[in-house]
Amino acid sequence: MLHNKKILLGITGGIAAYKCGHLVRLLIKKGAEVKVVMTPSATKFVTPETLSVLSKNQVVSEFFDTNLNWNNHVHLAEWADLILIAPATANTLAKFTTGVCDNIVTACYLSARSKVFIAPAMDLDMYQHPTTKANLKTLETNGNIIIPAESGELASGLIGEGRMAEPENIVAFIEKHVSANLPLAGKKVLVNAGPTYEAIDPVRFIGNRSSGKTGVLLADEFCNQGAEVTLVLGPSVHKPKNPSVKVIHVETADEMFNACVDAFKQSDIAVLSAAVADYKPKEQSIEKIKKSETELNLELTKTKDILAELGKLKSKQLLVGFALETTNAIEYGKEKIKKKNLDLIVVNTTSETNPAFGSDFNTVSIIDKHNNLVNFEFKSKAEIAKDIVEAIKTFSKKQNG
Ligand code: CTP
Repeated sequence: MLHNKKILLGITGGIAAYKCGHLVRLLIKKGAEVKVVMTPSATKFVTPETLSVLSKNQVVSEFFDTNLNWNNHVHLAEWADLILIAPATANTLAKFTTGVCDNIVTACYLSARSKVFIAPAMDLDMYQHPTTKANLKTLETNGNIIIPAESGELASGLIGEGRMAEPENIVAFIEKHVSANLPLAGKKVLVNAGPTYEAIDPVRFIGNRSSGKTGVLLADEFCNQGAEVTLVLGPSVHKPKNPSVKVIHVETADEMFNACVDAFKQSDIAVLSAAVADYKPKEQSIEKIKKSETELNLELTKTKDILAELGKLKSKQLLVGFALETTNAIEYGKEKIKKKNLDLIVVNTTSETNPAFGSDFNTVSIIDKHNNLVNFEFKSKAEIAKDIVEAIKTFSKKQNG
C-alpha cells in the first residue's frame, strides 16, 4: 500500500523519537520514499545523521542549513503524498491547532496539501488534559488523522495512555487507511505466473520459455490498487516491486496446483497466467541418468490442469485464464472459457513478430464468457497488466449490476 509513496516524517521532541529510526526502516521496507524533518529539540533524542542514513535523504531540522541555504518547507510539503508527525508532543499539537509556525515541522504542517497523520506521545496526565483532548479534536475536525497513543509504561515511570503507537502499528494504521481508499480495497486476489520445472533426474528438467513477467506485473498492479495479493510463482527471475505482494515460490506443476487450490478458497479474483507444464516425466530418477544408450525414451504423464480445477471449485470467485496459441487464437480462447468455466480469458499468440515469451511487449485480446471481445494494441507488458486489471474491474461491475 505504501509502495512508491512519498512520506514526509516530522519528528518532534519527545523520548519516543528514538523509535523513529525503526519507523523509517519499516516505511522504506514497505517501498515508501521517506524524507525527515525534525524540530531542534527532537535532535536531542535521535540524531539527524542516523535518520539521514536510514532514509537515504538529507534531514532538515532548521530553516537554514549550515551553509545558510534556505530549507524550503513549502517544497517539502508539496513533495509529500502523505505527512506523518511522530512523535507529536503536546506542545506541537497546541502549535498545530493555533497555527504557530516557529520550526520546520510546524511550517511543513501549515504548508501541507496531503493527508497528515499525527501520532501523539506524551505523559499520562498531559494526554488526559482537556486542552490536549480539545486540540486533538480540533486537529481531527480539520481533516488530520490521529493515530491513537497506546497504553504502557511511560518515560516518567507512570503507567497509562500516552505512549506513541509502536512503529509497526503506525505503519499498519497508515496502510489500512491508504488502502481503504483504493479501488480494490478489501479484495483478495490470486495470481499465478512463470513456468514450472518437471524433474527428469536431480539435474535435468522439462520446462518452458515463460518468463513470468506479465503475471508479476499483474500482481503488482492489483496490489497497487489496494488488493491483498497472493502470487504463486514458478521459477522466474522476476519478482514483484510492491513488497505487500505475498509470494509463494513453487517449482513443479503439482506444487503450483496445491498452492493455487489452497489460496483460491479465500480469493475474490484469480488470474492464472502461469505456463504450467502439461506433462511431467512419469518416473523421476533419483540418480543422474548416465548417457549409456544412443536413445533415451522418456514416458510422460499429464499434469493436473489447475485452471480447470479452479473452474470446478468456483463459487463466487471471478476466474480469469490465459491462452497462448500459435493459430486460431480467438476460437481456442472461446473454447477454453467454456471448457474451464472461466469469466474472462486473455489470449495472446506467439510468432516471430510477437514472441510473447521473454519480451517486454505483447499483443493481447480479452474475451469474456458472453463472447465480448476487446483487441488491444501491441504495447508494454506493464500497460497490458493495467488493461487486464481494468477489464476485470469493468466485467465485475457489470456482473454485479
Ligand atoms: N493451465 C493450468 N494448468 C495446466 C495447464 C494450463 O492451469 N496444467 C492454465 C494456464 O495457466 C492458462 C490456461 O490453462 O491460464 C490455458 O493454458 P494453455 O497452455 O494455453 O492451454 P491448455 O489448457 O494447456 O491447452 P493446450 O496446451 O492444448 O492449448
